Amino acid sequence: MSLPRAIEAVALATTASIAELPPRKHVLDLDDFTPSEIWALLESSRGMEEVLHRDIKKVPALRGRVVVTLFYEASTRTRVSFEQAGKVLSADVINVSTSGSSVEKGESLLNTGLTLQAMGADAIVIRHPHSGAPNLLARHLDRVGVINAGDGMHAHPTQALLDLYTIWKKLGRLEGLKVLIVGDVLHSRVARSNLWGFTRMGARMVICGPPTLLPLELLRSNEEAGGPPSLPSVEVDTDLDRAIQDADVVMALRLQAERQQSGFLPSLREYVRRWQVTPERLDRAKPGALLMHPGPMNEGIEISSSVAHGGNSVIEEQVANGVAVRMAVLYQLAAGRK
Ligand code: CP
Repeated sequence: MSLPRAIEAVALATTASIAELPPRKHVLDLDDFTPSEIWALLESSRGMEEVLHRDIKKVPALRGRVVVTLFYEASTRTRVSFEQAGKVLSADVINVSTSGSSVEKGESLLNTGLTLQAMGADAIVIRHPHSGAPNLLARHLDRVGVINAGDGMHAHPTQALLDLYTIWKKLGRLEGLKVLIVGDVLHSRVARSNLWGFTRMGARMVICGPPTLLPLELLRSNEEAGGPPSLPSVEVDTDLDRAIQDADVVMALRLQAERQQSGFLPSLREYVRRWQVTPERLDRAKPGALLMHPGPMNEGIEISSSVAHGGNSVIEEQVANGVAVRMAVLYQLAAGRK
């Protein structure tokens, strides 16, 4: 047996029941994932989670592979969980942030990517304030897998995958669930990727918030304009007390103060009064409904502290599941690379 095959065999033997993953070059959003590919990643994440529960959380699945995290924006959950995921799989993980790198001297994103590729990176995990930055790298780098860790208001596919995984683990299914996303949907890349992911998996999606913070253009058909396929039907409701009724899942989103322009909100007090997820509102959802938030939270604004830390909350489980899901994504992209 050749050395790479032997390594792979050991890796598979030591990572519990990793599902057969179809080959994939990049993870830029969930719009090009089929339901069966999402299922394969969720199954694979379950195998990865088993590794995380061992005494020694280390398998050689990505030994000899190089994963670079390239973050042009702040992050705690995504950056740390990708780093942990890579290390558990024995990849060499190199963290690059704009501060202290040649980006400070004006190096372009593309030249930064080409530099990392020349150094032998197998995967680049990128977060960037501009929508489309990961797609640009993916178009120009031929030897590196690109993973979008959040770009502008566009997409955050691994967050959506960990949200799907968390719900599937807790409720045992995705199809037919009523999933409510409430808050600043307009600025939320998490919501956009989740809309793709949940509708692909057959969930019923409802978005709710002030009309000025809902991306109504996303919900219109693009067909007349000859554009890309629009999202499958998503219900829109600006009345949270009504929208939350019988929800299986309630996902509150952060009010993104850094992306607000004047005029989006009448006042913060009005926003809290009408769209904060409170215990009284959560009582209208299905008994045992899951309360989610991608983080970071503004407690007391989009979500009350008692709800955020209450019995329905799976927010910490979302964070924990992020490691297993990102292990599965890294494995899918980097394991088969030559
Ligand atoms: N949910 C999320 O992307 O969190 P971070 O900004 O901390 O990575």
